[in-house]
Amino acid sequence: MTKVAVWCRHKGDNIIGIGPEIPWHVASDFKRFRRITAGQNIVAGETTYETFPNRTLPNRKIYVLTLNPDYEVSDTKNHFVVNDINDFKDFSEDLYISGGATIYKLFMTSGAKLLPDIIVDCEYHGNLKEGLQGPKIDITPCVEVLSKQYMQVFPDYELDDITTRVYVKKGDFVDQNVIKHIIKAIEEE
Ligand SMILES: NC(=O)c1ccc[n+]([C@@H]2O[C@H](COP(=O)([O-])OP(=O)(O)OC[C@H]3O[C@@H](n4cnc5c(N)ncnc54)[C@H](OP(=O)(O)O)[C@@H]3O)[C@@H](O)[C@H]2O)c1
Repeated sequence: MTKVAVWCRHKGDNIIGIGPEIPWHVASDFKRFRRITAGQNIVAGETTYETFPNRTLPNRKIYVLTLNPDYEVSDTKNHFVVNDINDFKDFSEDLYISGGATIYKLFMTSGAKLLPDIIVDCEYHGNLKEGLQGPKIDITPCVEVLSKQYMQVFPDYELDDITTRVYVKKGDFVDQNVIKHIIKAIEEE
């Protein structure tokens, strides 16, 4: 099983959201995320799950992390409620960690068995949308772990004010098929 975290953060302050929203609209960023995660298992926090259009992303299995054991998903065939992040320690298939900040932080700071093997780090250089309500949500602790424990593989990819970098955990074997899938999905843009 390979765990892959995929995020897009704002350069400088590592903001990924304001209130429930991602504070930029870059169509190619959504498309890249969709290509990387198509047909895969993804895990999202309850807040992020609620922001998916119609609370779904077609053609993926979605694992929703919530502390609420009675939480109801929109598609009981393809979406699953998970109340304990430790359940992912022995997950048998590849897993794409898709946010938000609480979930990225949990995976990146809860020990070696949950630490992602690969990180797709997209960095947005443009301005944040104005007028959004709610707290600014950042992933600075994750970026600190990234800079200490990961190394970049492959060159930077630049598109539409976003630099995409692929990192792997230092000193670990990484499934080359997963890397190939990710690079292909990025280069398709
Ligand atoms: N830019 C990007 O790449 C990107 C990607 C994804 C999301 N986002 C943004 O990130 C923001 C949301 O982030 P967030 O941190 O507020 O929310 P989140 O990570 O999406 O979800 C938080 C929820 O996870 C559940 N949770 C927390 N700790 C848990 C644990 N130990 N075990 C099980 N479940 C647990 C709780 O749900 P319950 O309250 O139901 O218990 C909590 O409310 C939004 O602005 C969103 O748009 C950005």
